[in-house]
Amino acid sequence: MTEFLHSDEQGAALQIHCHLCAQSNLDGGGHSGSRVFGEKKKLTGRKIEKHVHRLLLKAQQSKHWDKFTKIARHSVLTFTPADWPGLRGAIALQLSCREDDFGHFHKIENSRGNRPKKNSQRTKGKRSNPVALQMLRDEYTRFVCDFVAPHLASEDEDILLSGLVFQSMPALRVAPPSEVAIGTRHRDADYRHQSYQINFWVPLCPAFGNDSQSNTLWVNGLKDWPDVPLDSDKLTNSPLNGDFGVVHRFYGNGLFHQTYPNNTNATRISLDFRVVPGYLYDNDWPGSRNGNGKQCFFLGGYYRECKFDHESGKWQAQECET
Ligand SMILES: [Fe+2]
Repeated sequence: MTEFLHSDEQGAALQIHCHLCAQSNLDGGGHSGSRVFGEKKKLTGRKIEKHVHRLLLKAQQSKHWDKFTKIARHSVLTFTPADWPGLRGAIALQLSCREDDFGHFHKIENSRGNRPKKNSQRTKGKRSNPVALQMLRDEYTRFVCDFVAPHLASEDEDILLSGLVFQSMPALRVAPPSEVAIGTRHRDADYRHQSYQINFWVPLCPAFGNDSQSNTLWVNGLKDWPDVPLDSDKLTNSPLNGDFGVVHRFYGNGLFHQTYPNNTNATRISLDFRVVPGYLYDNDWPGSRNGNGKQCFFLGGYYRECKFDHESGKWQAQECET
């Protein structure tokens, strides 16, 4: 299981994180987006930890914070699966399996002889399927424009005026049964993401966790925030449960999250992506520059934006600048 390799999430392309299917990566232009657009390393060390904490505190003290917490707090949204067939269809095409097989994808891989490989967490996209990639890009963009943006704008009308910035392509996670949890507990802020970013998490097949079993993502403070401060020691750990048709919204930028070894008999496949309200977005946020001063996250790279078109009454994704 490979989860939260954010170094790979920061490109404009889709990355699959799975130690079963290193051959199954989708990558937009045959390049590693992380190399082009993103900072590869997680920020670590006490000094950095304090730095991240300062940035989060600064956001919390801003005049926008209260309003932001209303649209970033945990919410479980639902949609009609039949309205978005391409989300699962594209992944089935890429993984060369049926959508109904997602939950036991590990068995299919085993029967194909694709055993889990050590240290194959990150993939390069050499065997990506461009048709699947395009299908996913189209459906995901439609999903953001027709579902996510209207949802957020209904709770914050400033988004209607300023637009919504969103991750250009979602990250795909394939988490088969495994004795190890790959990836570490973190906040997205630890990877230089800007403070007003909201996470969306979309299971493509059953994802579940309880006291004894889990194949899913856990978020510390999921249900407490923002009623309990980020640095409270009373935050409880909660699993993201659900199946295709459910979307979890949460503040992954400031809340720690992690996976545990998938000790179930079910592979979990999910998509996740991040958005920032237009009026809170900074295209050259200082905290997102790497050690060389290069900006990691920007429009035309990691991000894209959509705007509400008053004439048609629809949200429209803007063309990428690069
Ligand atoms: Fe994360």
